[in-house]
Amino acid sequence: MNDALYKLIRAHYRTLEGYVSAGMEMAKDDRKIFLNANENPYELPGLEGLNRYPEPQPKALLEAYARAYGVEADQVVMTRGADEAIVILTQLFCEPHEDAVLICSPTFGMYGVDARSMPAGVVDVPLLKQEGTFALDKDGIIAAATDQGKCVKLVFLCSPNNPTGTSFSHEVISEICEAVEGHAVVVLDETYAEFSENGSMAEDLESTPNLIILRTLSKSYAFAGMRMGCFLCGDTDFTALARAKALEAYPLPLMSIEAAFYVLSPEISALAKENIKKILAERARMAAALQESDHVVHVYPADANFLLVEMNDAKGFYNYAAAQDVILRDFSAKPGTEGCLRISIGTPEQNDIVLKLLSEFQK
Ligand SMILES: Cc1ncc(COP(=O)(O)O)c(C=O)c1O
Repeated sequence: MNDALYKLIRAHYRTLEGYVSAGMEMAKDDRKIFLNANENPYELPGLEGLNRYPEPQPKALLEAYARAYGVEADQVVMTRGADEAIVILTQLFCEPHEDAVLICSPTFGMYGVDARSMPAGVVDVPLLKQEGTFALDKDGIIAAATDQGKCVKLVFLCSPNNPTGTSFSHEVISEICEAVEGHAVVVLDETYAEFSENGSMAEDLESTPNLIILRTLSKSYAFAGMRMGCFLCGDTDFTALARAKALEAYPLPLMSIEAAFYVLSPEISALAKENIKKILAERARMAAALQESDHVVHVYPADANFLLVEMNDAKGFYNYAAAQDVILRDFSAKPGTEGCLRISIGTPEQNDIVLKLLSEFQK
């Protein structure tokens, strides 16, 4: 394993013996009688096959993920959503009570929640507000992540960022990776990458030893209910270690595995891509229409499937919409997004309802 990762992994993971599940010892094969995993031999009607534990990381599904994300199968670790990948990486790198993760607020809340539950520290280098949008404070991030006293092990960058919708340039992210190498690992959360023209940094993984990328089927593949995500790393010794020592015995539900093959098939992937185009067209329409409203102060430029909208009375409109069964996300009281609501892009009909409510809303 490359030093940029190996030296930062918590010491006990280097020697820890991972659990070897019955499923790992012997691949399932219809001709064999399996009495090694305390499974129930009686299948219930309509639930055939579900009496057996699933394969922890099915090779064919790793290959399907690899094709979708432009990497090799052994560079993928499949997890229950990107959410679980965040937990696993925090556990792998952060020594409780000693180490910290770096976040750039306003950003996805789970980075901080998972760190605090270790407990590990959270060092915040807030995004800079510049010309009506947000930017990474590159120098601030590098200074904090290389400050020995702060013990930052993971730098979470989210691009496009939730809740601001901002994409950050690959160049700046590469510069951060290079500058913090040996001090910290950069975890780039690409949960919304399919909605951005910037695309993915997966092709930089081989040449960037301290870069790990999070991906998920939840958003672009409309698969949130199945909880399927992954992390990607160029170093296959690291992904092998993570699979052997940091995953649960049977991390992926069988029905999620089977449905993931289906959603990643060429036919269904093509439909998902068509839907992304519809969402992007609606995002543009909504951004323009919202900006026209007297209630709206600013619609932040967005690269994901939602818009961050600053309003004169965000809380009032949130409550007004909720009273009519339209549920938006209220960020108005959070630092960095004061006065803002986050509005997911829905179908044209759903979006029209939001616009209608806005036109009817009296301050
Ligand atoms: C930035 C970001 N990362 C990760 C996640 C979690 O995604 P998943 O559904 O794959 O767990 C979300 C969910 O909203 C998110 O916004």
